[in-house]
Amino acid sequence: MTIYSKIIGTGSHLPDKILTNADLEKMVDTDDQWIQDRTGIKQRHVAGDGETTSTLAIEAAKKAFEVAGITAKDIDLIVVGTTTPDLIFPSTACLIQNALDCPGIAAFDVNAACSGSIYALAVADKFIKSGTHKRALVIGAETLTRMVDWNDRTTCVLFGDGASAIVLEATEEKEGVLSTHIHANGAHGDLLNATVGVSSGLKNEPNGGLKIRMKGNEVFKTAVMTLGRIVKETLKANDMKKTDIDWLIPHQANLRIITATAKKLSMSMDQVIVTVDKHGNTSAASVGLALDEAIKSGKVKRGDVLLLEAFGGGFTWGSALIQY
Ligand code: UT7
Repeated sequence: MTIYSKIIGTGSHLPDKILTNADLEKMVDTDDQWIQDRTGIKQRHVAGDGETTSTLAIEAAKKAFEVAGITAKDIDLIVVGTTTPDLIFPSTACLIQNALDCPGIAAFDVNAACSGSIYALAVADKFIKSGTHKRALVIGAETLTRMVDWNDRTTCVLFGDGASAIVLEATEEKEGVLSTHIHANGAHGDLLNATVGVSSGLKNEPNGGLKIRMKGNEVFKTAVMTLGRIVKETLKANDMKKTDIDWLIPHQANLRIITATAKKLSMSMDQVIVTVDKHGNTSAASVGLALDEAIKSGKVKRGDVLLLEAFGGGFTWGSALIQY
């Protein structure tokens, strides 16, 4: 008997504070037109005082539980995709578990940078498929603006904060997560990274010298190439054609990358969920935020076939094919 993971609830949460392109014009040598033309981003949400990755995630989780009609006591696994944990330890998953008051169940973080949403979903799905777990809370949550170099115009205009949550439940019907595909190539680690860390040492600079560094153009090209490959791999694994996909729900890094992937799938932009204009790149939160918005807006309906995909630092990339 094959077990599948069905999505029974989604939720999301964004900080109230919004940083527009006009705000950024006052901070670095940039302009609204350049940001919109090159990335599609108009604004992003930024965590305020007292807001952390876990506080955003807890709100998203509560909304997902409400939609699913369950409480935290009904889940038996928490997997959190994040690159910006509140603390090195306890893990963000443990902080979330404590706040939700569901002690005893397995809870851990997955760090796959912007592919964190897909990695967390893939891991939770495999736990459910193995038969050991029945209901999982899958979170993608980030506060990347806390490690952005606000003097670097090539990166600071790109990122935003937010959290998304998905509740998966075991089912014997062939529905929900049909397949997941995750990959990494550490040889491209230098394309996108944070330059300091616990073991390699912090610097005697503000924030310990923690900054995002990115070779944007190379990331762009690598992303378009790897996404093209993963789309083919996903369709082949499910013996499906491009036309079988109803919705593309991509990682929201750059509208031009999203458009290139849609073109590879011969999909019209009407079948693509785009939130990058409002959220910027929220890393591990982005695919879940887009999925939640697509469901809440009524675009995605039960039975629709969804292709979720993401890429990020590591280099990591992945996809999930879902029959919602
Ligand atoms: O989740 C995964 C994370 N990352 C990504 O997906 C990002 C992938 N990469 C990208 O989205 C794009 O490469 C960027 C949006 C980051 C940059 O766009 P680009 O078309 O690749 O621009 P570029 O880096 O080749 O820079 C073109 C010009 C440069 O000026 P010169 O050298 O031609 O005079 C930059 O200095 O644009 C300049 N530039 C800016 N100008 C105004 C770079 N950033 C800015 C800015 N405002 N914020």
